[in-house]
Amino acid sequence: MRKTFFLFIALLAGQLCSAQIKVQRLMTENLVNPVAIDALGPRFSWQLDGGQTRGVMQTAYQIKVTDEANHVVWAPAKVSSDQSMYVNYQGSALKSGQKYTWHVKVWDNHGKSAESLPATFGMGLLKADDWKAQWIGPAREEASRPSPLLRKGFTVNKKVKKAIAFITAHGLYEAHINGKRVGEDYLTPGYTSYNKRIQYQAYDVTNLLQPGANAVGASLGSGWYRGVYGIGTRHEIYGKDISLLLQINITYADGSTATVATDDSWKTSTGEIRYAEIYMGSTTDARKEQKGWSTAAFNDSGWSKAVIGNYPKDDLVATVNEPVKKHEIFKVVKMFTTPKGEKVLDFGQNLVGWVKFKVSGKAGDKIVISHAEVMDKAGNFYTDNLRDAKAQNTFILSGNGVETFEPQFTWQGFRYIRIEGYPGDIKPEDFTATAVYSDMAPTGSFSCSNPMINQLQHNIQWGQKGNFLDIPTDCPQRDERLGWTGDAQVFSRTSTFNMNTHNFFAKWLKDVALDQFSDGSLPHVIPDAFDNGRPTGGGGSAGWSDATTIIPWNMYLAYGDKQILENQYNSMKAWVGFMKSRSHNNLWNVGDHFGDWLFYTRNDDNDGSAAITSKYLIAQCFYAHSTQLLINAAQVLGKTDDVETYTKLLADVKGAYLREYVTPNGLISSDTQTAYAEALEFDMLPENLREQAAGRLADNIRRYGNHLTTGFLGTPYLCDALSKYGHADAAFRLLLQEEYPSWLYPIKMGATTIWERWDGIKPDGELEVPSMNSYNHYAYGAIGDWMYRTVAGIDTKSEQPGYKGITIKPTVGGNFTQVSADYETPYGKASSHWKVENGNFVLDVVIPANTTATVYIPTKGDSAVTEGGKPVTKAADQIAGYTAVNVGSGNYHFSTSM
Ligand code: BGC
Repeated sequence: MRKTFFLFIALLAGQLCSAQIKVQRLMTENLVNPVAIDALGPRFSWQLDGGQTRGVMQTAYQIKVTDEANHVVWAPAKVSSDQSMYVNYQGSALKSGQKYTWHVKVWDNHGKSAESLPATFGMGLLKADDWKAQWIGPAREEASRPSPLLRKGFTVNKKVKKAIAFITAHGLYEAHINGKRVGEDYLTPGYTSYNKRIQYQAYDVTNLLQPGANAVGASLGSGWYRGVYGIGTRHEIYGKDISLLLQINITYADGSTATVATDDSWKTSTGEIRYAEIYMGSTTDARKEQKGWSTAAFNDSGWSKAVIGNYPKDDLVATVNEPVKKHEIFKVVKMFTTPKGEKVLDFGQNLVGWVKFKVSGKAGDKIVISHAEVMDKAGNFYTDNLRDAKAQNTFILSGNGVETFEPQFTWQGFRYIRIEGYPGDIKPEDFTATAVYSDMAPTGSFSCSNPMINQLQHNIQWGQKGNFLDIPTDCPQRDERLGWTGDAQVFSRTSTFNMNTHNFFAKWLKDVALDQFSDGSLPHVIPDAFDNGRPTGGGGSAGWSDATTIIPWNMYLAYGDKQILENQYNSMKAWVGFMKSRSHNNLWNVGDHFGDWLFYTRNDDNDGSAAITSKYLIAQCFYAHSTQLLINAAQVLGKTDDVETYTKLLADVKGAYLREYVTPNGLISSDTQTAYAEALEFDMLPENLREQAAGRLADNIRRYGNHLTTGFLGTPYLCDALSKYGHADAAFRLLLQEEYPSWLYPIKMGATTIWERWDGIKPDGELEVPSMNSYNHYAYGAIGDWMYRTVAGIDTKSEQPGYKGITIKPTVGGNFTQVSADYETPYGKASSHWKVENGNFVLDVVIPANTTATVYIPTKGDSAVTEGGKPVTKAADQIAGYTAVNVGSGNYHFSTSM
C-alpha cells in the first residue's frame, strides 16, 4: 500500500457568516404532520439548516408536546445531545383520536439556537372498542360484481371544531362527503397481509362538513382482497365479501362530540362502476351514474339496507406508509394507426396508472381502451406479455354532452393505448395518462456527461415509480404485480436513493415477519398471495427469503433506524435458523431455488456460453450473507450471545463453502461472474484468495467481450465487487456496454423503464417469450446503488448509519467528464458534483448540518489539493489513490490536478 496523507480542513466555525440556524422538517414517525398514528411512543425527528456556516452540529435540544387543550403532555428538560432523529416520546399516555402539537428548540456548537414551527400528529383509534362503526356491505351482489355504493345522511347542528374520518375496507374504497372526495389517496386501504392486519386511513374532514344536512358515502372495489390476483385467475384470496368500516369523530366547538359510523342504518346500491379488477380492468357505464349519491339532497329511498358483516376490528392498524397518490401527468406524444389498423396513442413513457379522457357521443356508445408496453416487430399493438391480465377499461357513454372518464379500483402498466369504439375523430389532446404510486418523497438525483447513463437513471426511477405501489412489486402490468421478495431485496438499497422508502419498507417488512412460515422460510411473495398462511410449499428460495435480512439491514444503513432491526430481528434469526436446519455439515445444498434468475443464456449455445451458476453454491453464499447481517443486527442491538453464536456459525458456513466449491488456488466450481461477485461481496474467500478472484471475475467479463452474464442474484454485486478490488475500469466498461446483454442495450432499443430480461426486445425486433417478459421490472435497476455510492460516491459510514457520518468518494472513469448526485439524507441534502476540466479534477460537496463527513479526492501521487482556492493542510495517513479530508457540514469546493 502506498503511503499517503490524511488531511484536515479547519472547520471554519462561524467565520463565513453568522446567520441564524434553522430547525425544520419536523417528522413524527417519519411522517409530516400525520393525521393518525398508533405508535404509543412516537419518534420525533427534525433537520437543522446551518445556512452558510460550516461545521454546524447540534449540541442540545428541548422538545415540548401539548394536547388539544394546550396542556403540556411532555416537556422534558433540555437534553445535551446531537440526536435529531428518532427521539422517543416519553410523556403521559397519548389518547385515542387526539391531536398533539410539538415544537423543538435546538442549540448548536456556534452558540446559536433556533425554535421550530409547530408540528402535529394525531393518534388513531387505539383500541378495537374505539371503533363505534360496524363493518357493512351490500345486501346482495350481482355475479358481475358492480361496485357497491354505501351512503348515509346526517345532521350537523353545531359549530364543528374538528372532524376526523377513520376509514378502511375489505377490498378497496373511495369515500365522499357532501359530493366531495375524501383525501387524495387511491387504492386505499392499501395492501397488507389482510388475514392478519388491515390498515385504516384517517382524514381531517372538518372542512367537508356543512351546517345542517350532510351525507357521507363510499364506493367499494374488490382489489387485492377478493379480486383476481396472485397469478392467473385466482381470486377471493382473503374473503368473498367486500365491506366498509367508516367512522367520523366530530368534536364541536362547545366541546361536545358526535360520531357518524357505518351501521345498518346505511343504504346501499350500485352506480356507474359495473366491474373493476386489478388485472382485468374495469367497466364504467355512465348511464348508470347515480348523480349526487353522496350529497344530502340525494333521495335514497330506492336503495337497500346495508348488511352488517361480522368481522373483527382488533386487526386494524393505522397506516404506516405513504398512501398511493396521483403524480406525473403525461400528454400524448404520438397518435398512429398500426398495420392491423389499430388506433394507438403513445404517451412516450412506460408508466403505471391509468388514462383519463374527454369524449362526447350517444348514450350507449362503448369505448374500449387496451394497454400495452410495446409494439410487436410488425408494429402492431402487443399484449401477449400481459398473460391473463386483460388490462382493458370499457366506458359506456350517457350521451349527456362532454363526458370525462377515468377508471377506478384498477391500474395498468403501459406506454401505449389502443382505442376501440370511439365516436368520431380521436383528439390526442383529450387524453392524458396519470402516473400513480406510493407518495414517497423524492430523495435523489444522478446525472452525468453521458446521456445514455442519464436515460438509465431515468429508467431506474420509473421502474421504481411503477413498482412501488403500496407494496414493492415485481412488475405492474401482467397477471402478477406481487410482492416478490427477491426482487425487493435486490433493489432495496437503490430505492432509498431515489425516494424515501423508510416507511414503505417498514410497513412491508411487518408483513414479511407476519407471513413467514413457522419453519423460518419466507413465502415467495409478501403479502402471501400464493399460500395465504398455509405452508403448502413454495418458499425458502435463496436470495428471495433473504429479503428478511437484507432489507432491514439496508434500511438501517440508509435511515439509521434501529427500530426496523428490533422489529425484524426474530424474523432474521428464524430465516438463518431455517437454513441451518436444512444444512448438513454446514452445507445448505437442498431445496428449490430460483438461482441466478434470468441469467445470460443463448438460443444457439453450441459452445456452452450460458452462465450457469450452481444454485446450491449461491444458496451457500446467501446463507453466509444473511448470517453476517444477523450478526450485524445483533451487534447493533447489543445481543452479545447471538453475536458469538452466529459468528461461530458463519465461520463454519464459510468453511463448508471453501471445502465444497473452491479449489486451493481459488477457482470457484461455477466459474461465473455471479459466483465471483458473490464470493467477493459476501467475504466468502480468505484474504489471500480475494485479489485473484477479482482478477478471474475481470477476465471472465473480458472473455464475454465485456458483457455481463449475471441474473437477478449476481447483477447487484457485479460492479461493486469489481471497483472494490481495483477493477473499476471493467465495471465502467460493463456500465457503458451497449450491446446485449447490458444496461444500455434496452436504452438503444427505446426503453423508458428497466426490463425484466436483458433482451426483452431482440436486436432484430423480435420480442422475448411472452410468458416472462415484462418491460417494467426494477431488479436490474439495482445498478443505481453503484452509480450513487461509487460513481458519485455518496455513502453513509456504516458505524454512523443514516448518514450521520458520510463519505464522499467519487470514482472517476467511463470517460465521464462530469457527474452530479444530490441525495436528501435524513439530515438534509448531501451532494457530490465532480468534473474533469483542463487537467483538473473539481469536486463540489454539500454536507448537511449535524453530520460529519470524510471526503476522498482522487489524487495522483502527491498532487496538491485545494479547497476554495486554499491548500488543505496535511495531517496524517490516507487511502490509495485518494486524499482524505474530514469536514463538518457546509459547501466545499475541492480541486486537484489529474
Ligand atoms: C417474477 C419475478 C420473480 C420470479 C421468481 C417472476 O414471475 O416476475 O420477478 O422474482 O418470478 O421466480
